[in-house]
Amino acid sequence: MEALEAIQNGAASKPIFSKDSCVVFTVLGASGDLAKKKIFPSLCNLFEKKILPPTCQIIGYARSSLTTKQLADKSNPFMKAKNKDVLSSFWSHVSYVSGTYDTPDGFIKLNEKIEELEKAHGSEKRFRLFYLALPPSVFIPVCTQLKHNCWLASNNSECRVIVEKPFGRDLDTSNELSQAITALFNEMEIYRIDHYLGKEMVLNLMILRFGNELFRSVWNRERIACVVITFKEPFGTYGRGGYFDTNGIVRDVMQNHLLQILCLVAMERPVSVDASDIRDEKVKVLKFIKPLDLDDVVLGQYVGNPDGKTEDSKLGYRDDPGVPNDSKTATYACAKLQIDNDRWAGVPFIMKCGKAMNERKAEIRIQFRDTPSDIFGGNCQRNELVIRVQPNEAVYCKMNVKSPGMTFAAEESELNLTYHERFEDIDLPDAYERLILDFILGTQTNFVRTDELAEAWRIFTPLLHKLDAGAKCPVDYPYGSRGVAAADEFIRASGFKFSGTYKWKAEKK
Ligand code: BG6
Repeated sequence: MEALEAIQNGAASKPIFSKDSCVVFTVLGASGDLAKKKIFPSLCNLFEKKILPPTCQIIGYARSSLTTKQLADKSNPFMKAKNKDVLSSFWSHVSYVSGTYDTPDGFIKLNEKIEELEKAHGSEKRFRLFYLALPPSVFIPVCTQLKHNCWLASNNSECRVIVEKPFGRDLDTSNELSQAITALFNEMEIYRIDHYLGKEMVLNLMILRFGNELFRSVWNRERIACVVITFKEPFGTYGRGGYFDTNGIVRDVMQNHLLQILCLVAMERPVSVDASDIRDEKVKVLKFIKPLDLDDVVLGQYVGNPDGKTEDSKLGYRDDPGVPNDSKTATYACAKLQIDNDRWAGVPFIMKCGKAMNERKAEIRIQFRDTPSDIFGGNCQRNELVIRVQPNEAVYCKMNVKSPGMTFAAEESELNLTYHERFEDIDLPDAYERLILDFILGTQTNFVRTDELAEAWRIFTPLLHKLDAGAKCPVDYPYGSRGVAAADEFIRASGFKFSGTYKWKAEKK
């Protein structure tokens, strides 16, 4: 219990577990990909680190008839822990119930199983936690069944539910979903997960910004020329094209992960680190952003690269049998957002994201304005503060320094905080591991609130409707490239200068 106690006491959240609390964590959709690759491995890591409450019992729930052993066999290849004793001890806390998602029978069985575990434990203080690792089609039926068959209403108990994106397709469908779910549960019981909020360097934004006086006076339109938030993946969507085609990159990554990052970069200092204070500030920033239009985006779709080194890279997006031959779905998007408040008016916030690109990288790049009257022969480049989210987590700042030696010329270099060099032997937890712990502890800070979600959809819905109607076609870009060439011009025209002379070491080839 010590590791958990230390976290509870060190965290902003109130300590909620005493030694006798009974916690039952149910994973619905237990036989699916998300459960086997992320949720069970995250629970096992928390268990191994002794962060999971020692009395915690886990239940897997899905339609297939499975034994716990079969569930374990599916998930074990994805576990960090390789030690057999740890794995078997973890799985000894897991049971399995099978049932459908839309009729009461399975949920009645699930409730009986939870009660059986609670009785064996004997505690009055009961926590029932439900993770919905399920497709959106069964989302409402499952919430309804949970509410009717498995929910507790007493002062001595707490029930909570995690839901996964997609949270609707646009403002109306998202509002419908939110209304259905808020009719069943109160806001304190709903945890909408955006796993980017659990990444180390995204969490770091708050402390970097509000814990360093150095940044306070420069974090505004007087000093900052442009902010670029980037997400790139070096692989395509082959095999999941069917799912991807109904969403596209804007719904898949930009409207959620990148917009959440934008909020943390741009929001005002919250009064405290309480969930409601932070989420209030995020909503305020979103309210200052006008909806996007077609001219605010550049779109791309990848095509096969005949020179590609892998079989996958020779295939274009539309070569996937799950994708219609005439699909206009974007696999790359670059958008410019404006935040019309005192701090940011006139500063472009560029978000760009793409599949099948030249590298894996997510980063936030804050580019500062030009140095006034460069007396060093025009050699001073713009300063950039880069928060590298993944891989190779780092914070570095591009700076101009004197070239070493007899010369008095300026040269571009960097202040560099690479996490794995500065903090040796760190084991950064997976985003899911951290967010599942927040969920267990009842900390909502890193989950998306209903009004925040509605604001995010308000910004993107007009654009998405036009794109759904085919109003703008994506431009081809080759698999493994930097994406759409026209995006560079778009970014330049927005106010960013691609003038740097120095490449950060981790990017050097
Ligand atoms: C998911 C998207 O939300 O995030 C995927 O649906 C994307 O398309 C993934 O690949 C990226 O997550 P990560 O943690 O691997 O950067």
